[in-house]
Amino acid sequence: MNLIELAANAPKAELHLHIEGSFEPELMFAMARRNGVKLPFASVEEIRKAYNFSNLQEFLDIYYQGMSVLLYSQDFYDLTWAYLQRAAEDNVIHTEIFFDPQGHTERGVKFSDVIGGISRALADAKQKLGISSKLIMCFLRHLSEEDALSTWEEAQPFLSLIDGVGLDSSEVGHPPSKFKNVFTLARQAGLHLVAHAGEEGPPEYVWQALDELQVERIDHGNRALEDRKLVKHLADSGMCLTVCPLSNLKLCVIDDMSKHPIRKMLDAGLKPMLNSDDPSYFGGYVNDNYAAVITALNLTRDEVTALLINSFTGSFLSAEQKADALEKLNSYLTRSTA
Ligand code: ADE
Ligand code: ZN
Repeated sequence: MNLIELAANAPKAELHLHIEGSFEPELMFAMARRNGVKLPFASVEEIRKAYNFSNLQEFLDIYYQGMSVLLYSQDFYDLTWAYLQRAAEDNVIHTEIFFDPQGHTERGVKFSDVIGGISRALADAKQKLGISSKLIMCFLRHLSEEDALSTWEEAQPFLSLIDGVGLDSSEVGHPPSKFKNVFTLARQAGLHLVAHAGEEGPPEYVWQALDELQVERIDHGNRALEDRKLVKHLADSGMCLTVCPLSNLKLCVIDDMSKHPIRKMLDAGLKPMLNSDDPSYFGGYVNDNYAAVITALNLTRDEVTALLINSFTGSFLSAEQKADALEKLNSYLTRSTA
């Protein structure tokens, strides 16, 4: 077995996945037809051809357009179920999923339909696929904090279905500090906290996410490497970074996979792990991300093992559940020769 196969067959967690970013063009087209929504593309091929981005904003413009097809609870169920079935093929046994309620409620879709459909699929995945999950509600950072606070209010009846809050969308110009109040409310409610930081934005945004929002994980974190003091702080605190190599390539955060900072992160004592971010848009699910960095950087077995371990230790599973998952991984690794 080579290292790519070793990683592909390993039990793993995915901790950075936007459910709306797993919307495959085939399902998007079928749903557009059944919902009577007109897409600005004539075919699946035309949609795929449009997936050429030179930065985060170009991607987000198309991502929000794709979402417009999602109207009813069943749509959110079908979207989530499709991802979970695909994740099972990649031996994902635990996933922590982001959703963007504001991308839907601002179009008149009911919050209860969004979260109802997603949650039903997550419950079915536990039953039928043996995949456990957490659900993380993201605030769109290009909108105001008042808007995020209204969404927080709307979410109150459903807090038992929500494990954490996050921050996504256009990073530059929208620092984490803008969302300090809503994150404080989420923290007081006992939710987990994460934020996208250092994808396109400067190291200062990573500091703000840590100090002002008090996040437990950094999503991406690539640009943290520009600040030595920050790297030391992240290493000393054991902070997990949810890293997304194919996303970084597609959004021109890096210009070649051989320049991906994943090894630098590991060498600096950080705790990165690998994810697909928006797999339908970026050309690959989680195993494709492992394969891409293993190939481009010639990762060692120890490095791949560290990434797989971090996928569980960085999760919001309980200590007991983490120990269980790590035991599964360890027993797999001792049986496998690569
Ligand atoms: N929303 C979906 N994917 C995202 C990403 N990679 N960065 C910021 N916001 C996002
Ligand atoms: Zn993301």
